[in-house]
Amino acid sequence: MASLVIAIDGPAASGKGTLARKIAERLGFAYLDTGAIYRATAHYLLRELDADASDETAAIKAAEYVRDHLTAQMLASPELRVEDVARATSKVAANAKVREILLDAQREYAKTPPEINGVMAGGAILDGRDIGTVVCPKADVKLYVTASTEVRAQRRFEEMNAKGEVVTYDDILADMKERDLRDSERIVAPLKPASDAFTIDTSNQSPKDVLSRAIDIIRGHLAEQVAKNAP
Ligand code: DC
Repeated sequence: MASLVIAIDGPAASGKGTLARKIAERLGFAYLDTGAIYRATAHYLLRELDADASDETAAIKAAEYVRDHLTAQMLASPELRVEDVARATSKVAANAKVREILLDAQREYAKTPPEINGVMAGGAILDGRDIGTVVCPKADVKLYVTASTEVRAQRRFEEMNAKGEVVTYDDILADMKERDLRDSERIVAPLKPASDAFTIDTSNQSPKDVLSRAIDIIRGHLAEQVAKNAP
């Protein structure tokens, strides 16, 4: 049986990563944070190639490096989570060639998810901006996770404060608006909900409530599919 694919898209700090991880844990699915792949590309471009995010040749070189050396360890590096890398990432991710280079690895993961502790995964969950629209348009379930810009900026502000970074809420809000605009107005694979995605607004919901809503949607949708395909 082909393994199931769940696509989760949404803007930064919408809670999609936390949700994707929890669903993966609950259902025994493998989880891929595709934003980390783009972040790893920007990181390599800045730190190893010493280039600017607008340098297209360097961006392509960086994407090829990441495609050829991709590991779970690379994607888990805390160095991908710093602000200059995040800023460069949204620029690098707007490059069509970069996206094309990184596409197959994401599709391959969805098709053949890695084992979890030696056990076959029940499926794959990928989160990002274009999973339901471009990477896995035939995903079994698509979720679009969002929250107001102010709530998302507040979450990011608290997260950075906790890490000891000196930032202001206003700067984070301005930065978030700029990145949202770049992610949703770019020509290739812009951030938008797939027409068949279920939208979850996390602005006023606890992570626990968001998780149970998502699990309800997934169960309900899969039950519907099974019923539709029954002889
Ligand atoms: O989800 P994140 O904040 O880690 O994403 C970092 C950047 O990468 C963000 O600017 C959007 C971009 N991205 C993308 O364009 N496509 C994806 N599938 C995932 C992330």
